[in-house]
Amino acid sequence: MSKLSVEHLIGIKSLKESDIQLIFETADNFKQVINRPIKKVPTLRDITIANLFFENSTRTKLSFELAEKRLSADVINFAASSSSVSKGETLVDTVNNILAMKVDMVVMRHPNPGASVFLSQRVNSKIINAGDGAHEHPTQALLDAYSIREKLNDVNGKKVVIVGDILHSRVAMSNIFCLQKLGAEVMVCGPQTLLPKYIKEMGVKVETNLKKALQWCDVANMLRIQMERLDISYFPSLREYTMQFGLTSKMLDELDKPITIMHPGPINRGVEISSSIADSEQAIILDQVENGVAVRMAILYLLAQKIVRPQ
Ligand code: CP
Repeated sequence: MSKLSVEHLIGIKSLKESDIQLIFETADNFKQVINRPIKKVPTLRDITIANLFFENSTRTKLSFELAEKRLSADVINFAASSSSVSKGETLVDTVNNILAMKVDMVVMRHPNPGASVFLSQRVNSKIINAGDGAHEHPTQALLDAYSIREKLNDVNGKKVVIVGDILHSRVAMSNIFCLQKLGAEVMVCGPQTLLPKYIKEMGVKVETNLKKALQWCDVANMLRIQMERLDISYFPSLREYTMQFGLTSKMLDELDKPITIMHPGPINRGVEISSSIADSEQAIILDQVENGVAVRMAILYLLAQKIVRPQ
């Protein structure tokens, strides 16, 4: 198979395992490209891409922009804070105005879950979800799984624990779907109040003791507390959260095996992960960021193949 089974990248839930493998194989080629002295290829020379960010981002926004530029696409950037959205324009009207300027693909981050699928059903463009509320963050999960594959040779059969604020995390949701499709065993670990009630129905193991979770896993993916999405207090204080769920060197030293540490960023040093761990050999956090460019190049390339241009 050399084509994706989907027309848009809305979430991992709608991808087949073969889609994920195709993205990884394509990303392998692009990873070679971005490590060459000349990092640019003409692959998307006639394609124009709009990056629409209705919510803050460092990694995802810059990674997409760089991926697009490495592929020689034309790129326009839109930040909601400086746009006419504040004057009352709807999402669909905003995007249709942008598309009228002959834009082919839209990368969108939005605070509302479902915003990407809503848009994909109403506008004539390829849509890539760069994170929609607490719903999905598919490119993050793909780059995370790609980084596990790179570090441990395969994802199949690996034990991955996702630690922290599972309730508000689109990264957790997309990672669970992605890792399970690739044959990994998944555990979530966090305070009971930050674990969704439906979590066991997703086929994951559940643990509230971080030391036990670390002993079980090959990989620990440490999540940040999504302070911007907390409407009430889910734990007594940040200090108490860190005492129970913050990863320290001492915890890793006590294990009888090395494990791989991941974090999607942004990191809150000294809260969910200590500085010494974040900067250690065991952490592949900056590899994840590097791989994000190659994985996003692969997704842009594969979706651009599906653009039908008027004759
Ligand atoms: N991992 C991630 O989505 O980071 P940003 O919010 O900086 O894009």
